[in-house]
Amino acid sequence: MMKFGGTSVARPKNWEIIARLARKRLADGERVLIVHSALSGISNLLEALPGLALAGEGEAAAAAIRQRHLDFAQEAGLDGAAILAPWFTRLDALTAGMALVGEASARVRAETMALGELMASALGLALLKKLGVAAEGLDARDVLTGTNTHDETRSWLDNAVSEERDDTLIARLAPHDVILTQGFIASRAGGGTVLLGRGGSDTSAAYFAARAGAARVEIWTDVPGLFSADPRLTDGARMLTALSYEEAQEIATMGGKVLHPRSVGPARRAGIPMLVKDTFRPDLPGTRITGEPGDDAPRLKAVSVKTGVRLVVMEGSGMWRQAGFLADIFAAFKHCGISVDQVSTSETNVTVSLDPDPGLDAARLDMLRAALAPLCRVRIEEGKAAVSMVGYGIRRILHQLAPAFEAFQQKPVHLVSQAANDLNFTVVVDEADGAALAKSLHESLIGQMPEDRVFGPSWAEISAPAGKAAGAARPAPWWETRREDLLAQAPDAGGRYVYDLTTVEARARAVAGLQSVDAAWFAMKANPHADVLRTVESSGIGFECVSMGEVARVRETLPDLPAARILFTPNFAPRSEYEAALALGTHLTIDGLHPLREWPDLFAGKDIILRVNPDRPRGHHEHVRTAGPKAKFGIPLEQLGHAAELAKAAGANVKGLHAHAGSGITEAGHWREIGRILGEAASSIGGVSIINVGGGLGVPDSPDAPILDLAEVDRELAGVKRALDGVELWMEPGRYLVAEAGVLLARVTQVKMSFGTRFIGISTGMNSLIRPALYGARHEIVNLTRLGEAPAGLASIVGPICESADLLGADRLMPETREGDVILIAEAGAYGAVMSSRYNLRDPADEAVL
Ligand code: LLP
Repeated sequence: MMKFGGTSVARPKNWEIIARLARKRLADGERVLIVHSALSGISNLLEALPGLALAGEGEAAAAAIRQRHLDFAQEAGLDGAAILAPWFTRLDALTAGMALVGEASARVRAETMALGELMASALGLALLKKLGVAAEGLDARDVLTGTNTHDETRSWLDNAVSEERDDTLIARLAPHDVILTQGFIASRAGGGTVLLGRGGSDTSAAYFAARAGAARVEIWTDVPGLFSADPRLTDGARMLTALSYEEAQEIATMGGKVLHPRSVGPARRAGIPMLVKDTFRPDLPGTRITGEPGDDAPRLKAVSVKTGVRLVVMEGSGMWRQAGFLADIFAAFKHCGISVDQVSTSETNVTVSLDPDPGLDAARLDMLRAALAPLCRVRIEEGKAAVSMVGYGIRRILHQLAPAFEAFQQKPVHLVSQAANDLNFTVVVDEADGAALAKSLHESLIGQMPEDRVFGPSWAEISAPAGKAAGAARPAPWWETRREDLLAQAPDAGGRYVYDLTTVEARARAVAGLQSVDAAWFAMKANPHADVLRTVESSGIGFECVSMGEVARVRETLPDLPAARILFTPNFAPRSEYEAALALGTHLTIDGLHPLREWPDLFAGKDIILRVNPDRPRGHHEHVRTAGPKAKFGIPLEQLGHAAELAKAAGANVKGLHAHAGSGITEAGHWREIGRILGEAASSIGGVSIINVGGGLGVPDSPDAPILDLAEVDRELAGVKRALDGVELWMEPGRYLVAEAGVLLARVTQVKMSFGTRFIGISTGMNSLIRPALYGARHEIVNLTRLGEAPAGLASIVGPICESADLLGADRLMPETREGDVILIAEAGAYGAVMSSRYNLRDPADEAVL
């Protein structure tokens, strides 16, 4: 049984790999049953189709879906229109039907979604035959039958299927060497198509294997196996080469989307080994999952972090020795249909954590509050992260975790839970602390393990050329070495931002030196200080401006700068600003249809860039995610064709496409993904010669936070550039150039002890630096006067503003601190001074350079 996911089947050339792997199995005397997903991205389009059909935009959306498949067929040298005719007819009929009736039931949605797998299957079968593999097609719905539940919607969209061995099926498959079928879909007893829910193709593979008595389930995906941590968290994550079903299930449940946890059950019950492998690097060993643990000595195998967790804190005096109290509160959760993850109880407090769940909306939480109100006091806390350690016999190795617990000393822990199956130990902390904590636990407990049966190579070893220094110690920040100069600059009152231009220069040079980037633009909204602009300019980087105010600042500061080194990217700006920018001759990015439709005369004979919404919201906080259905930025991909037509009608030339998905991203793969999306969009409209993958390059917010590897970004973008063949690649980072170059200095005004919390008050607050209040952002904070002195305990650093949110850092380890000491807040060079205000009529910090 071989399962191939969306990215594995998305390109015709990938089917050559599938054909090769199948032939190899045949040569080994095995027969092959292949289950596959829809082409990557198609399921999302199909999921959105009913909403669009109801809004009268179904035809365009269906056309985009048809086009993706026709493009695939063309690339594969197949007659797509003929092969897909029946499915296209059905797609159009369903779209028209939904629009006509004005309704899309769960059943109709299931039928619509199923088309993704069915179309991919029709293409895949034709292609395998073309590649010389005598494959036989099988409709998954003839084999897998859903076990209907009472929940009508669920039973269409998120079904389970029977998993008994089926001897008639086995006999039916016997004459064929290679059989191709679809994942994700099954039939409903009594007629109709049902879906198996998220991760359904993995689950299909396991069900098929069980029913067909397969010798093995191979899950082929785009990562090389299960890892001891999410490689995006740390590239020290180790490949796990041998696991038991229970461990694999636990690790799959804990995060990583490599293997769907639901798929483990059917394989385990049928005793069929599973193997997770990388389609694009089939020589790597992958993860083998069987009834035997890879190693039954108690030890830690993985660390994970799950964000978006909620805590429900229930307190009351009535719970002490009251029989049935827990039964009552859990009945309330059941009544509201809310599933609980971790639980911790004491005599007066029961706290549970809830997994992130898009269906868990404010109304349902209110319902829960109301159901619990008669029993106890309830508080629901959002924005938590669950950090889990997984491994056999975790109870017996708690002592080994001791040194790792030092990582908790600065982070408030809200809940600790040790799973009854002795496989999992979880702590719930603030979301902002989760990743750093998981990373440091992983590094101290797993990262250094020698290679053996369980721990394979690290992600860094697999993905980087040999010789890369892993985990090199981080250099001391510049402000440590310049302490004396900074103390001399410290203000007596208020606050002062101090910028180190050497750091700005180093970052600007690093960005300007990216081989794969043809032009870089500094998103000057991050820091428009004149000296910063001059320093950036000297490295050859241009300026990305969002307002005429910013354009004017650049021109005042650098009067000789040609307009072609300014990129104007406004959002919901008035017509006059477009006029002004065009008159100046800057590059211009348009991020909606309105300017093209309403003011076409402005753009006649002009080159323009269109900003699209890539539907990939990313970033350190909801407020900085600038893509996806809720974002006000960019043109939704399905409107891009229309935008191109409007541009053409106006006589404008669309020379480039742009996307910026969010801010504070540390995964290098992100820009490859944006490049890929823009590349596909560019080929759909034609004539595009520039792709701008935006900014968003993150910087670490604490000494142990992940660091973005710029060299890796360059490698990822080099791949994009190769695929784009001749197209120029642009990038527009803001924060990356300036964040670490700036610090905010202030004096201690007062200290206070209150209800067990030590407050250190300083002479400026959210009026100078709003990021902690606005995004819960973390900034490193030190007492510069007493740098290096032993910590005296935890303290919260607050400003003088009349708002409880005027908290610059909570629960920080600080030395004994006195009135008049200088406090330094680090990584304040981006979105610091420029976002300050005069709230409370307190002057915000002024600015100085070193
Ligand atoms: N390009 C566009 C179109 C943008 O909107 C932004 C930032 C950037 C580039 C630069 O993003 P960066 O490389 O700096 O992440 N005030 C928030 C950040 C808001 C970013 C707004 N747009 C913060 O303090 O985190």
